[in-house]
Amino acid sequence: MFEEVEKIKKAYFEDAKKVKTSDDVEKLRIKYLGRKGAVSSAFTMMEEVPNDKKPMLGKALNQLKTELENHFATLQQEFKASLNKRETIDLTLPGRKPNTGRKHPIAQVEDEIKTIFKGLGFVVEDGPEIENDFYNFEALNIPKSHPARDMQDTLYINDDIVLRTHTSPVQIRVMEKKQPPVRMIAPGRVYRRDTPDATHSPFFHQVEGLVVDKDISFADLKGVIEAFAHRMFGKDIKVRFRPSFFPFTEPSAEYDFNCVFCRGQGCRVCKQTGWIEISGAGMVHPNVFRAVGYDPEIYSGYAFGMGIDRIAMLKFDIDGIRTFFENDIRFLTQF
Ligand code: PHE
Repeated sequence: MFEEVEKIKKAYFEDAKKVKTSDDVEKLRIKYLGRKGAVSSAFTMMEEVPNDKKPMLGKALNQLKTELENHFATLQQEFKASLNKRETIDLTLPGRKPNTGRKHPIAQVEDEIKTIFKGLGFVVEDGPEIENDFYNFEALNIPKSHPARDMQDTLYINDDIVLRTHTSPVQIRVMEKKQPPVRMIAPGRVYRRDTPDATHSPFFHQVEGLVVDKDISFADLKGVIEAFAHRMFGKDIKVRFRPSFFPFTEPSAEYDFNCVFCRGQGCRVCKQTGWIEISGAGMVHPNVFRAVGYDPEIYSGYAFGMGIDRIAMLKFDIDGIRTFFENDIRFLTQF
């Protein structure tokens, strides 16, 4: 009788090892733990044993029942769990792409501007963002008392040190080190004490351009700016120059491009004028040459500025400068 109990137990564990499908699980239950299963049938042996053996057999049968039931419950659980896990893998789903970084739209446009100017024979120069008064103002023909200092809302670190308000100080640094001919651009960050709004940010990006040689004329400046406009925005974009004032250039101009949205026809963006203001330019002032030791009787040159953020806004059709600097991934991943 007790061997019978052992046999059932052994057979159950053998069968349990072979379970593969949920059908197998159910079959196992019916075979051993069902109403007419092996365990139930074994209890009928109770009727056949002598009274003095009944307690022992009863105990053995109950133990068998509990052991198999417990094991079966765990088996059932495990089976469900692995089944669920398998169901969450949908092999028809396309794989997930890993998130990779990308270039900021300002950096992309800066790269494009550099490529265009390199193609026009310019070299790329760099200068510090924390500048001396001398490079940011003095050497650019803006003495301490000059009213033109009001044109730029300067962020001062102390009386003599500023966050550069434009990229023009790089002109001075390069000319101090090199003799003409000079043909350079200097892209970089600049700072002004502006209250941030849709079109103003306390820092933004400029590209400075400078060409110095014998017999450089305003016509050369116009030619280079036009070549840039055509390569950046298309051959149908016209450029115009309007008289203006900068202490470091004489004559000075501001230049506009045809509106890149309506191509000069007039639209909401250009306020129906057909033109968009880009930046300032002009012929290098003799006092700037004197500050770096170039002879203004021998050399002439032109300089121009360019707003990178401005150009990026036109290129990507963005109407606020702030979105560039908020680092919102949802914005940045669109470019
Ligand atoms: N530095 C001027 C500005 O920031 C732009 C400029 C550059 C004008 C070179 C003339 C020549 O507004």
